[in-house]
Amino acid sequence: MPSKHFTAETSNERLDVPELETPLEIGGVELPNRLYRAPLLECAGEGPDAAETLVDELEPAAAAGAGLVFQGAAPVREEGGRVAPSMTGLADPEFTASLSKLTDAVHDHGGRVFVQLDHGGLRSMETWHVEYRRANPELTQLAVSEPPWPLRLADRLGFLDFDVRVLSTEEVYDLAEDFGRCAANAADAGYDGVHLAGANMGILQQFLSPFYNCRDDEFGDGVRFFEVVRDEIRARAGDLPVVAKVPAETESPPFVRRHLTAADAVEICARLDRIGYDALAPVRVSTFWDMSIVRGRFPERAWRDRRFREGYVSAFGSRWKAALVAAANRVEAFEYDFEPAWNAGLARRVRERVTVPVLLEGGIRTREQMDRLLGGGESPQACDAVGMGRPFYAEPRLPARLLDTADAGRAEAICENCNNCTVPQVTGANGVCRTPEVLAERGELVREGAYERD
Ligand SMILES: Cc1cc2nc3c(=O)[nH]c(=O)nc-3n(C[C@H](O)[C@H](O)[C@H](O)COP(=O)(O)O)c2cc1C
Ligand code: SF4
Repeated sequence: MPSKHFTAETSNERLDVPELETPLEIGGVELPNRLYRAPLLECAGEGPDAAETLVDELEPAAAAGAGLVFQGAAPVREEGGRVAPSMTGLADPEFTASLSKLTDAVHDHGGRVFVQLDHGGLRSMETWHVEYRRANPELTQLAVSEPPWPLRLADRLGFLDFDVRVLSTEEVYDLAEDFGRCAANAADAGYDGVHLAGANMGILQQFLSPFYNCRDDEFGDGVRFFEVVRDEIRARAGDLPVVAKVPAETESPPFVRRHLTAADAVEICARLDRIGYDALAPVRVSTFWDMSIVRGRFPERAWRDRRFREGYVSAFGSRWKAALVAAANRVEAFEYDFEPAWNAGLARRVRERVTVPVLLEGGIRTREQMDRLLGGGESPQACDAVGMGRPFYAEPRLPARLLDTADAGRAEAICENCNNCTVPQVTGANGVCRTPEVLAERGELVREGAYERD
């Protein structure tokens, strides 16, 4: 059992609950503590500098003490299925081997690194990125079933461009093999585990969601796809641990009648636990690719930034279409306002039903909050590890302020949830904080030595 625990008094009971510094095991891999960097797109590309870029992006988190770093979504095929420009795919074994530079760098600091496997399906760039579509006219979108009516309508109105290929049963097995092959490539490159991008409207969510999945073969039950993927990974990468994000589509717009409820997500997690998934990250999302996964403010500055304007036009097809996407983004920001630890209630429900660790991310910002979520407060323990996404863009060495320090109890991430880091990624821009006031605050903390560790 982990050594570092503290005692909490809850409902007249004294419970041993883990601290953030308590080690945690995921599928046989020991993490030195329970703080993780959630998967975030790095946009490091697939060129000769990719490994170097990833080291620059991710090593600081490990050097500052993060127990686990999740590399952001990596496509499982050499062609197609990319959800943003400049992604780093793992289908080529030789290229993936070059990423050992990153895994070595993380391991040198005693941390662990998992990479997230993804295929965009209907959300792929060949659907929405106009310039990419023009450059790759032969690409079709892999689909679980025919697109639902709102997407067909968007296609008719010229906002999306579908040329779908609904997967045959055999092709679903082929796709699962690709996940397995990429996991094997990742294991060879020294990754400690893989993570499945189950909740960002990629093909994995499309399998689970009744909004997308109307199949009448065995894969009409989307969990079956996760089962076959788990088997493929086991067959090709042995006991490499596998984590999955699991969607509760509770944030879907009212016109979406068929979606995954919180109860559905809890049940899916229970089944994934039985199938052999090693940790689960349940998240509240919608059926669409929107701001429900990054609750916060409308990214005013990012949309106005001259450096990205041409890139937005290339991505969305014209100035007026880019303006309409920005307007929709503004409406979403009202709908998906920031909420502290917004997935905690869902995670608590999942934790009651599964035996494997539950990972919690989304709006977690203070050490005090982390301690409470790990069980050191009035409410029952919500999770076994806590993660942050955007705060790592704002402060790549953030763990140094949260772990093992006398001031940790008062520590709070400086990220303002303004989302200026999100939109530029449609142009292939790197994942970094883009808000000058926040960067200035980080500079001040650097000068004070706040990110230094023994
Ligand atoms: C720019 C950006 C890129 C993201 N990329 C991924 C990704 O590749 N895979 C994924 O599962 N989640 C992705 N996320 C979601 C994060 O993992 C995380 O769940 C989300 O940011 C909420 O946590 P936070 O409030 O701490 O930022 C991304 C989020 C942002 C802001
Ligand atoms: S731009 Fe910076 S402050 Fe704003 S959400 Fe992104 S990381 Fe946080």
